Amino acid sequence: MQRLADNIIALHGRDSSLVIELCPDAGPLWRYWGPRLSDGFGSGPLLAETRQTPSFSLDHPVAMSVFPGFGMGWFGQSALLAHREGRDFVFEAAEWTVSGDPGKGAITLQAKDGHSAIAVAVAIALDQDNDVLTISSSVTNLDDAPLDVGWLAAASLPLPDDAQKVHYQTGRHNAEYSAQTDILGRATWMRENRRGLTSHDALPGALVEAGGATFGAQLAWSGNHKQTIEWLDDGRYQWQMGEWFAPGEVTLAPGETLTTPDVLATCSPAGKGGVARNFHNSIRKIIDWPGGKMSPRLVHINTWEGFYFDHDETKLIALADASAALGVERFVLDDGWFHGRNDDNSSLGDWWVDAAKYPKGLKPLADHVTGIGMEFGLWVEPEMVNPDSELFRQHPDWALQIAGRPLKTARNQLVLDLTRGEVGDYLFGRISKLLEDLPISYLKWDHNRDLVGAADVQGRAAYRRQVLAAYALFDRFRAAFPDVEIEACAGGGGRIDAGIIRRTHRFWTSDCIDAVSRLHIQPGFLQYMPPEVMGSHVGTAPAHSTGRSQALDFRAAIACQGHFGVEFNLLEMEKAERDRLALWIGFYKANRALLHGEIWSGEGTDSLSWHAAGNAGERLLFVYREKPMQLRHMAPIRLPFVDESARYAIIVDGPDGGSHASHYDGSWLKHSGLPVPHMKAEEAIIFRIIRQ
Ligand code: GLA
Repeated sequence: MQRLADNIIALHGRDSSLVIELCPDAGPLWRYWGPRLSDGFGSGPLLAETRQTPSFSLDHPVAMSVFPGFGMGWFGQSALLAHREGRDFVFEAAEWTVSGDPGKGAITLQAKDGHSAIAVAVAIALDQDNDVLTISSSVTNLDDAPLDVGWLAAASLPLPDDAQKVHYQTGRHNAEYSAQTDILGRATWMRENRRGLTSHDALPGALVEAGGATFGAQLAWSGNHKQTIEWLDDGRYQWQMGEWFAPGEVTLAPGETLTTPDVLATCSPAGKGGVARNFHNSIRKIIDWPGGKMSPRLVHINTWEGFYFDHDETKLIALADASAALGVERFVLDDGWFHGRNDDNSSLGDWWVDAAKYPKGLKPLADHVTGIGMEFGLWVEPEMVNPDSELFRQHPDWALQIAGRPLKTARNQLVLDLTRGEVGDYLFGRISKLLEDLPISYLKWDHNRDLVGAADVQGRAAYRRQVLAAYALFDRFRAAFPDVEIEACAGGGGRIDAGIIRRTHRFWTSDCIDAVSRLHIQPGFLQYMPPEVMGSHVGTAPAHSTGRSQALDFRAAIACQGHFGVEFNLLEMEKAERDRLALWIGFYKANRALLHGEIWSGEGTDSLSWHAAGNAGERLLFVYREKPMQLRHMAPIRLPFVDESARYAIIVDGPDGGSHASHYDGSWLKHSGLPVPHMKAEEAIIFRIIRQ
């Protein structure tokens, strides 16, 4: 029997391992992805030695490879579907080579199929501290004829055979991150997004509990995408993720290579929260902060819901003064400031200041804001154009369109064809001028519609090229203005993904600021992204999106989960409420290092949920009651994050400051729980938990 050590590649993280068997005939086979194996584990005989050949099967059944191919005996999903005018549709990798250093967690597997003249590569890197795998694939056309690619999985991952459910999110504008669970069975589970941007309704990620662990994956891509979980002949599942291509969208010229976006994938023994914390830490490593390091997340005032398109310079200056007086640190001038923009019927594309609203330009307002110690931020929506705009009148051909087909508007707007270099140059020129002339240190970059008929001038599908061109435009601004932070927004949460976060610094999570809705939306966001990039504002009551009203304390306690802001007209607020808001702003500022630390969350009984943020030494625990109590007494909340052997001081805390401390043993808090007082519906209590 062949010795194993030479054929096995193992990558070990803190809590997870993956094992690939290099089979001379069949290439790299998935043997294991799951909880951490011991360093010197033995994997037993080779796969082929333990697999029998069932009746009515190939004499040498094909096992699941890291890059499964179609047509030579693998009957599951293929990682590649490609052809040359109908020929060369088969892919069977040979001549596998492995490079990299498994000890350091990074390998690249490369292979060729000489018959179809296709080469592939799979790059796998395990962040050994956080158990997050970054995987991408590429395909190269080695022939003289073009290769049409219909599907290229970024990753093809194995899931254990006891997987039963997949957890994921759907949603819509104003109702993002609606939690869903489907049963995994023998039918292939599939989610596809064809809206041209990440979308509100099909987030490119999911979670599966299996094999004594929780697996999570997300695709770092801001366009169309697809994921499948398919039951395999051996009872395991194959999980694939990648871009969704429109027909004919990808044709590789001779010698050309297509590389997928990254998949971030993790396996945690600590449940959904463990997956979230792993993702948080790995996303933190890819955010490109001005100056190379995150600075404390400044408190925002955003003008949108308080003013909409009704910009009056005098009132906005008064708003800036009132905001600064409460401790707000960044003033973001939202939609409504540019040429002719009085409602959402017109003007997108005309990125110069509206002379009627701002006769002296934006400089007096921006200078006033910075003069009183706040940063000045500006809303833009570069990728869009209204048919009623100077830009469209001059360049109707710049909108994405297919000759002869009608233009389909959404929110009265069309999408610009960013694949045309002159369009990017125009946008860069206009918006750069603003960035150069004004003290702008922040852009809120919006994208308020889905794409339809996204074709280039030749009429060929250009969805992915549009995403790549948008990335290039972001990168161009980042390179030219490295100190400017960018917020990604798409009608709230339509473009939240690990691709755009490499070039941005905050997400506008949802246009719904209703605190009860946010109680459900924000945990979905935090499953994939860290709290410091989650825009969470205190809105007005009743909330514009739902008509529901909640007390200021409840709204603020929920906004504290993320990057805190205020979004209503402070000038109309009673003094007592303003004073209260100032206390909350002070509380957020004093605690933001904890709030943007390690996150744990959970549900209690009877409509209670909790969110804890901080570090092993100190945490803030927010307990939220959504609905009125049904029980006579509240059950204690068990706290999984404490150290059983430690002792803790617990203080009821919040904007009014802390009360006296109670003392508990960690083991009691973990297994019996922390007693919580009676709470009214839509109320929050904050505890500070200090390890002694
Ligand atoms: C989108 C955003 C809002 C606001 C408006 C402006 O809906 O999500 O926050 O910026 O656009 O038109």
